[in-house]
Amino acid sequence: MIKAKNIFKHYKDLRVLNGVNIDVKKSEVISIVGASGAGKTTLLQILGSLEKADQKDETSIIVNGTDLTQLKEKKLAKFRNENIGFIFQFHQLLPEFSALENVCIPAFIKKTPTAKAEKRALELLKFLGLEDRAQHKPNELSGGEQQRVAVARALINEPAVIFADEPSGNLDSKSAENLHQLFFDLRDQFGQTFVIVTHNEELADLADRKLTMQDGQIVED
Ligand SMILES: Nc1ncnc2c1ncn2[C@@H]1O[C@H](COP(=O)(O)OP(=O)(O)O)[C@@H](O)[C@H]1O
Ligand SMILES: [Mg+2]
Repeated sequence: MIKAKNIFKHYKDLRVLNGVNIDVKKSEVISIVGASGAGKTTLLQILGSLEKADQKDETSIIVNGTDLTQLKEKKLAKFRNENIGFIFQFHQLLPEFSALENVCIPAFIKKTPTAKAEKRALELLKFLGLEDRAQHKPNELSGGEQQRVAVARALINEPAVIFADEPSGNLDSKSAENLHQLFFDLRDQFGQTFVIVTHNEELADLADRKLTMQDGQIVED
């Protein structure tokens, strides 16, 4: 699903990624841990095509069969919308829109007809136990509910992979546990692939593989 080689990234004098290699198979749940500032978010953003790696001949970032380093901005945005889901620490839902509308946004960007997008969004919200909350705005939802809406939004275009950056970092322990269980349910039922950056040791240890970022590289436990 992901095969990335020799990812380098620097900001001015600061070398953040120093030749990262990572392989992720379909339906794997991978956790990435490491000290704050180790470059975890930077790596996730590069794998998710939100950020560019340093340009080098030896770099390749293949996600779902496409080399991201070969795509220009417009194609990259389309690829991202159709293949990649994101879940952030702070849900980043749009405050003016209902849960249902927030979930639909990636489908609308993909030009899915409204009725079809809303039907799928409702199915997802139902699966996530949020059918009663569909018409509520984010500030009328608990932290755990907001994060599950973000999960539905990540899922709506049936992405090849979901990248989650500290998804439970802002949740109480019970909501965190529910969210983590949800990731594994989605993997078991739908074969969903996840790459999850986390400080939560329980989640990190539950993953199929736990990778550690250290000195700008990845080491496998
Ligand atoms: N846009 C940026 N400009 C300059 N430095 C950055 C930028 N983004 C991240 N950094 C730096 O890169 C390093 C890695 O950051 P980050 O990937 O966010 O680490 P982590 O997620 O592991 O805590 C940090 O030292 C951070 O300050
Ligand atoms: Mg980070």
